[in-house]
Amino acid sequence: MLPERIVTRRLVLRRGRREDAPLLKRAIDANLDHLRAWMPWAMEEPSPLEVIEERLDRFASDFDAAADWAFGIFPPDESAVIGGAGIHRRTEPDTLEIGYWIDARHTRRGYATEATEALMRFGFSMPEIERIEIRCDPRNIASAGVPKKLGFRHIATLANDTTTPTGDPRDTMVWEMTRPSFDLQRATLESFQ
Ligand SMILES: CC(C)(COP(=O)(O)OP(=O)(O)OC[C@H]1O[C@@H](n2cnc3c(N)ncnc32)[C@H](O)[C@@H]1OP(=O)(O)O)[C@@H](O)C(=O)NCCC(=O)NCCS
Repeated sequence: MLPERIVTRRLVLRRGRREDAPLLKRAIDANLDHLRAWMPWAMEEPSPLEVIEERLDRFASDFDAAADWAFGIFPPDESAVIGGAGIHRRTEPDTLEIGYWIDARHTRRGYATEATEALMRFGFSMPEIERIEIRCDPRNIASAGVPKKLGFRHIATLANDTTTPTGDPRDTMVWEMTRPSFDLQRATLESFQ
């Protein structure tokens, strides 16, 4: 199972709670174009505060039921939401998928990579997990840069398997980290320490 709070070198990843709604709304509303370019849920934004509160309640109950884990990404003092990351179950019980977004005012500092690396480690702390995937539009160079930097392998590009936020057909790049690759990467790093 995943902890409610994960502290990385520069970030706090924390299970969202209802009280975070104003900070989350502020971050989403300031990033509408940035998010709508790639994330279908952003087409429904901006949402009223109550809708965001209900969403956070739903995220929290899914988190507690170990059905799905959505984290807010905060700076160490938790004074703002600077992004979101989730680790999601997929149809195969041994597979998880990681997703992320970072406020455009905080991009290109390695935050998505730092958050994803932490979620990957916690994902593989669950013994039943054998694979972690990241999926993105092949045109989303910034998103594809994250798994690439973390040593995920590009295993497929699925043609026309989904749609863009505006409803056009879209390909999907699939990136994979398997447990053996993760273990090997960790062992290699440890041997240099
Ligand atoms: C995708 C996203 C989360 C990346 O966040 P980020 O914190 O800027 O990413 P990182 O700084 O960890 O970047 C990791 C690598 O990706 C690549 N990258 C990131 N942004 C890039 C850009 N704008 N152009 C080209 N490469 C980019 C780089 O290789 C980078 O490593 P480097 O800085 O050492 O060269 C952010 O751009 C975002 O929120 N986009 C909108 C939402 C979205 O697309 N989410 C993913 C949907 S699948």
